[in-house]
Amino acid sequence: MEDAVIRVLLVEDNPGDARLIREMLRDSGPRKSTMDLSFADRLSGGLERLRSEKFDLVLLDLTLPDSSGLETFESVHSAAPSVPIVVLSGLDDEAVAVRAVQFGAQDYLVKGQVDGGAILRSMRYAIERQRLEDARADLEHQRDEFFSSVSHDLRTPVAAIKAAIGVVLANEPQNMPASLHRLLGNIDLAADELTKLIENLLEMARLQAGRVELWRSPVDLREVVARAVRNIEPLAAERNQTLVVQVPDQPVVAEVDGERLGRVLRNLLANAQKYGREGGRIWLALEDRTDEVCISVTDDGPGIAAEDQQRIFERFYRVSGSTTTGTGLGLAIARALVELHGGRLSVESAAGAGSTFFITLAKKRSDS
Ligand SMILES: Nc1ncnc2c1ncn2[C@@H]1O[C@H](COP(=O)(O)OP(=O)(O)OP(=O)(O)O)[C@@H](O)[C@H]1O
Ligand SMILES: [Mg+2]
Repeated sequence: MEDAVIRVLLVEDNPGDARLIREMLRDSGPRKSTMDLSFADRLSGGLERLRSEKFDLVLLDLTLPDSSGLETFESVHSAAPSVPIVVLSGLDDEAVAVRAVQFGAQDYLVKGQVDGGAILRSMRYAIERQRLEDARADLEHQRDEFFSSVSHDLRTPVAAIKAAIGVVLANEPQNMPASLHRLLGNIDLAADELTKLIENLLEMARLQAGRVELWRSPVDLREVVARAVRNIEPLAAERNQTLVVQVPDQPVVAEVDGERLGRVLRNLLANAQKYGREGGRIWLALEDRTDEVCISVTDDGPGIAAEDQQRIFERFYRVSGSTTTGTGLGLAIARALVELHGGRLSVESAAGAGSTFFITLAKKRSDS
């Protein structure tokens, strides 16, 4: 890095400022050959060069003859999203420069207040930061791709195990020892768990990559609720839990992806069932608020400590000491799916006092 040539594009319309910067950089650079400075005096010329050449950094004056303010920054940033930009501002537009940093500029320098050494340092930091950011994004992308392809490849063998064990269970001889029968049942259950894990990993990878498309249509949410409840009833019965469902008498129609929203509800109900109290209650309420709907899932279990309440929505996060099995993906998927609908998923809970998860959704999609 130290010896590599840094290709810098300086976009600056004031010839005096441009000359000054050029001289400052020349005098401060450790070696003349370390920097290759190109120059444009208009936005149009700068964009032209960015399109045809490769640069490591843009030094950008925001006030140019053909563009000014944040617009200048946004044009350059969208023309070359991966090239770091250091904004040069005058005293009078420092506020705009600060905004540019909020929008993704790596740094800003106020003309007349910096010397060549400071500009050089800022540029080196900017390039290094951008490089780290690119590497991080690249790693995340690789991880998602890895999960996606591995999950995909695991599907077929797991389906084969599931099918084979089904055949074995259906043809079990009368005199099969009880212990062997139990083991076969365990294989069947483990295959189901594995299938669920693979489906979760795949869905998460698709969501991360922005590849999930909602299939929206007007749906009576009471039916989505009823289906999710039917799905969880057998498991709740195993732990002697009572399900209390409250829905309005009239249809509650919303433009949603019923399949995806059903998945969100199943994830929340599965948590209430898993983490809720043995012999406890699980409430599911659907509330019609004219333009909005609210669906809440409440349990009377151990609750969630305040410091965990935001983290449980992160991928793979599980509260330490969670005894039952789980991947830590259920809530991350649920939140991503609700947000894809333009809605919100939140939690209210206190340790020892149960938890309530709220889904709030607009009935009509906002972009139609
Ligand atoms: N209703 C609840 N009561 C108490 N803790 C909960 C509740 N719901 C979630 N949690 C905590 O939040 C963590 C994350 O939940 P999440 O649903 O994302 O993952 P999981 O249930 O562990 O695995 P899975 O991917 O199978 O859903 C859980 O491990 C649990 O510690
Ligand atoms: Mg879960």
